[in-house]
Amino acid sequence: MKSHSDELVKILRLAYSGELAAAYAYRGHWRSLKDVATRERIREIESEEWQHRRLVGRMLEQLGARPNRVRELRAVVVGRTLGAMCHVSGWLLPMYGAGKLESRNVNEYETAARHASRSGRAEFVDCLLRMAEVEWEHEKYFRALVATHRLGARLPLWPIPAPKEAIRATYNVELGAIPERLNFTDDELAFESDRA
Ligand SMILES: [Fe+2]
Ligand SMILES: [Fe+2]
Repeated sequence: MKSHSDELVKILRLAYSGELAAAYAYRGHWRSLKDVATRERIREIESEEWQHRRLVGRMLEQLGARPNRVRELRAVVVGRTLGAMCHVSGWLLPMYGAGKLESRNVNEYETAARHASRSGRAEFVDCLLRMAEVEWEHEKYFRALVATHRLGARLPLWPIPAPKEAIRATYNVELGAIPERLNFTDDELAFESDRA
């Protein structure tokens, strides 16, 4: 069985490249849209994915791990291809795909927080839970958009995530108080959507 620190590195490497693909895909996505408010929110989501990538990159560095080069390359190709496809596919498909992916990201950061705690990296926990909360907001946004589409409203959706408060509450129950963040400043953890 892999150790918690191996699992943490594995998830962070996946997330690091996943954020790159997501950021490129969202860039293509908002640029393909006409509605000003939707464009602005997805542009903001793009910038939050870049911010996640920076934070995850810092953690990898502190763990002495490097991103996976093949996965990085693949992320650029996948992200840019998806971004380009948004210009021809209409908006339902990319929004549906994004919502489903975002719900997976919530779980991914919650799991990473647990591995961090169990491998003596308590200082990462708050930041990882914070990113899970930001992904939770992204999921909520795309779910609501899909529901406004005539066809989307009739599609079976991915499971509804637990309420946002559950992200910290379940951690508290399983692992106790959330440790202090220590190596990330408030500024580094201020996401664009918080300032709105
Ligand atoms: Fe993200
Ligand atoms: Fe996201």
